[in-house]
Amino acid sequence: MNQLHKIKINIPKKDSYDYEIIIGNNLLCSSGEIIKKYTKANKFLIITNKTVANLYKENLKIKNAEWLILDDGEEYKNFETLKKIFDFATEQKLQRSDCIIAFGGGVVGDIAGFAAATYMRGIDFIQIPTTLLAQVDSSVGGKVAINHENGKNLIGAFYQPKVVIADTNVLKTLDLRQLKTGLAEVLKYAFIEKSCGADLNYRFLDYLENNKENIFNLNPEVLTKVIEICCALKAAVVSKDETEKGLRAILNLGHTFAHAIENITQYKMFTHGEAVAAGMKMAFKLSLLKKLIDEEYYKKAIMLIDKYEISPVLPSFDNEKFYSEMSLDKKAQNGKIRFVLPDERQTVNIFEDVDFKQVVESIAF
Ligand code: NAD
Ligand code: GLY
Repeated sequence: MNQLHKIKINIPKKDSYDYEIIIGNNLLCSSGEIIKKYTKANKFLIITNKTVANLYKENLKIKNAEWLILDDGEEYKNFETLKKIFDFATEQKLQRSDCIIAFGGGVVGDIAGFAAATYMRGIDFIQIPTTLLAQVDSSVGGKVAINHENGKNLIGAFYQPKVVIADTNVLKTLDLRQLKTGLAEVLKYAFIEKSCGADLNYRFLDYLENNKENIFNLNPEVLTKVIEICCALKAAVVSKDETEKGLRAILNLGHTFAHAIENITQYKMFTHGEAVAAGMKMAFKLSLLKKLIDEEYYKKAIMLIDKYEISPVLPSFDNEKFYSEMSLDKKAQNGKIRFVLPDERQTVNIFEDVDFKQVVESIAF
C-alpha cells in the first residue's frame, strides 16, 4: 500500500464523533482493507454512476457489496433517484448494521449520503470521492442533500461519514473543466486559511502561487498535499461549527455571488467552480471598495485566480435581478444578504451592511 496521509476530523457531539480522511495514490484497490477499521458492517451498498463505474468498478475491491449504478448528472440528484436507492436497498434487504458507500463526485456523495442519513433512520456511510471538488470539499463535513424543483440542496441533513478515502489516482480521468471546478474550491481555502484556525499556517496562498504546473500535471505528491491542506482547513472549521451556526459560513467565500450567476444562467453556462471563481473576484472587489483590504492584496488575489484560468467571461447581468437572486441565498437572514468578504490576507469575515451601489460595482469587476 502507498503512503497514507490522514486528517482527523472531530465533531464534538454528545457522543464525541471522530473520523478520518485518508488521502493517497492508488487507494481503490486497498479500500476493502481500509474500511474494516472504520465500520463493523459486513454488507455494503456501493452507489456510483455510469461514468465512474465504467472507469473504476473493477478497481474498487470491496467484498460482500451490491452495486447500484445511477445515471450521471446533477439533474438526477432528486427524489426519483432517492426512491430508486431506497427501492434497491430494501430489495437487497440492507439492514441498519450495513453500510452505504458513495463512490463518485459530489452528486453521488450528496445523494448517497442523504440516503444513508435517512434509510432506517441512519446507517453507516463511507465516502470514496472521485472528483477534485468532492475530495477537497463535498465529501468532508457531512452536508448531504438532494435538489428540489424550487432550489438546489433544499432537502438534506448533516450526516458524517465513517471515513473518507481520497485516491488521487482517479483524478487523471477528469476533464480539464472538472479539474478546474475543484481548483476554484482549492483557491477558496487559500483565501480563508487564517480564519479556519489560529494554529494553522500552511502558507497555502504561496504554495498555490508556486505549484500551478505541478497541479495541472497531476503530480501525485503535490495533489496529495493540496487535498490534505484543504481537508485539514475544512476539518478545523467543521469541528468548531458542524451545522453552520456561524464560522462554517466562511466556506462560502464567493458562493453568494456564484449562486446568483448559476441561477440567472440556469446552471447551464458555467460549472459551479467557474461561478465560484468569478464570485470570489466579486467578493475581493467588494472588499476593496469597502476598504477592508488594500490594493496590493486585491491584485495578488485576482492574479492568483486568473493564473488558474477558472473565472469565465460573464454575460452582463441586470443589477436588480442579480441582487434579488443573492437575497435568495440560503445564508441570507431576515432578508439581509450575508457576504463572506476578505478583510485581511487569507482572512475573511461575514458582513451584512453592504451598500447596493458597491455590490453593483463589484459585480462588474
Ligand atoms: P459531479 O459529481 O457531477 O461530477 C462531475 C463529473 O465528473 C460527472 O460527470 C462525473 O460522472 C464525472 N466523474 C466523477 N469522477 C470522475 C473521474 N474520476 N474521472 C472522470 N470523470 C469523473 O460534480 P462534482 O463537481 O464532483 O460535485 C458537484 C455536486 O457537489 C453538486 O451537486 C453540489 O451541490 C455538491 N456539493 C456538495 C457539497 C457538500 O458539502 N456536500 C459541497 C460542494 C458541492
Ligand atoms: N461546501 C460548504 C460546506 O461544506 O459548508
